[in-house]
Amino acid sequence: MNKWTLVLLSTIFLSHVCAYKILVAFPYPGKSHSLLGEGYVRHLLDAGHEVTYVTALPYKKTHPKLRQVVAEGVIDKFEFSESLDFKKVISNEVDLKDMYLMYKTMMIIANRSITHENIQNFLMDTNERFDLVVSEWLYHHMFSGFAAIYNCPFIWSSSMEPHPIVLSLIDEVGNPAYFPDHMSPVSPPLTFSQRIGELWNVLYLYRVIWSLKDFEQQAFLDSYGPAAAKRGITLPTLEEVKYNASMMLGNSHISSGEPQRLPINYVNIAGYHVQDEVPPLPENLQKIMDNSPHGVIYFSMGTMMKSRTMPMELKRDFLNMFSKLKQTVIWKLEEELKDVPKNVHMVQWAPQPGILAHPNCKLFVTHGGLLSTTETLHYGVPIIGIPLFADQFLNVLRGVRKGFALQVDLGYDTPAKLKVAIDEILSNPKYTQKVKELSYIYHHRENKPGKTLVHWIEHVIETKGAPHLRSPALHVPLYQKLFLDLLALILFGVIVVVRMVKILICSKTQKELKQKRS
Ligand SMILES: *[C@@H]1O[C@H](CO)[C@@H](O)[C@H](O)[C@H]1NC(C)=O
Ligand SMILES: *[C@@H]1O[C@H](CO)[C@@H](O)[C@H](O)[C@H]1NC(C)=O
Repeated sequence: MNKWTLVLLSTIFLSHVCAYKILVAFPYPGKSHSLLGEGYVRHLLDAGHEVTYVTALPYKKTHPKLRQVVAEGVIDKFEFSESLDFKKVISNEVDLKDMYLMYKTMMIIANRSITHENIQNFLMDTNERFDLVVSEWLYHHMFSGFAAIYNCPFIWSSSMEPHPIVLSLIDEVGNPAYFPDHMSPVSPPLTFSQRIGELWNVLYLYRVIWSLKDFEQQAFLDSYGPAAAKRGITLPTLEEVKYNASMMLGNSHISSGEPQRLPINYVNIAGYHVQDEVPPLPENLQKIMDNSPHGVIYFSMGTMMKSRTMPMELKRDFLNMFSKLKQTVIWKLEEELKDVPKNVHMVQWAPQPGILAHPNCKLFVTHGGLLSTTETLHYGVPIIGIPLFADQFLNVLRGVRKGFALQVDLGYDTPAKLKVAIDEILSNPKYTQKVKELSYIYHHRENKPGKTLVHWIEHVIETKGAPHLRSPALHVPLYQKLFLDLLALILFGVIVVVRMVKILICSKTQKELKQKRS
């Protein structure tokens, strides 16, 4: 084939692929959230689309079709980042399970992000047009506002396994009798008290959302009001916008979650953030892993909780315990420690996929964040979970139930307990077997998650917001779902009948009395 035929063929091919303008709004300043945002960016660019990425942590690679709007420094010196502290969590000083605080904090952070100068400047440009917005749900609905400004369809991205509250945005709240909240470390079948607990939980969350409604609406106005005014459009209320998503793409999959019934416009795409080709390990790590005949244990507590807040004695006890193992330990910690045993290799940053993909990696000791749980299934490595907050307790619990994980709680005695768990997992092959089985389920899909993601995004754009996918349950009020109106009608009927019978009997006895007297 000569050069010109090739050029001709590729122009014909390209003219059949529509390039859309897509806005990916993931401005929450957290490493794992940015990894999820970057997943969208990467797949959409690969599919030939033009991407604008609103983020707190810029994507490192440049691309001619990528533009970034960066809001940095939003939570520096913010109270919330101070509470992500090992010492405070161990001593129960902070309650990261307080949902009112969680929802409100996330709303404040979202408002700060969107009112950031760079995002405001971007929003104020009235020439901007988009075909679709993908926005992250993170205990608030603020990022849906971009779709209101650009008047285009939008898709919710949920970074967790589906849970009752998030599903209420596209369908209805899940039934708490068998569908636990993502913060509850319980899994069906629920006992009586767990069931009551879950019902209470959903009611409580609704109360939280209700009590923050005005605050969120105000933050929504503060964030998008000026841009709407500049464009001369009336900003719809947040209440209207948040229920107007075409669908939800979830960082979830049956291999890590539960077989819950899901609406047709919820699609599982867990694993889309993992690159098809494992990036090669740095040379020194590659050597260390190759030369570990007894295998490697990889230890990382994620990125949210800074390891400098971990008590020194705890770090020493970890090192002591590790020194007694035959295995090599790769420990990700953002600082240097003294007197590190020979078999322990400290890294400040870890190329996690590369480490998990190495055949010598035998065990992953993790905080149980969802990305780590996903990656562990992707590469088939059993885990020991030391959950810290949010959905981590449930992720680890699910791993334990499914049989590829053990749980160890955070405390001063964690190293000793961890040793017992390490011995169990390394000596008993059932955990590795189980994780390999689940890894098969994880990979065995019609399409790779990145392809599924692109497919549905294009589908929504090409069908102008995919109204055919929207659940009829979305706008049916609870009293109608529970047929309370019918119940009321029946009650009313019964009352009327009883009344009439009474009146009849009364008048009859009166007549009889009259007859007797006369
Ligand atoms: C809801 O979404 C559709 C397209 O998906 C859009 O045309 C409409 O304006 C949106 N309505 C509101 C209130 O945002
Ligand atoms: C949102 O942020 C702006 C600017 O940072 C601030 O003036 C406003 O009070 C905030 N709104 C709410 C509801 O906190």
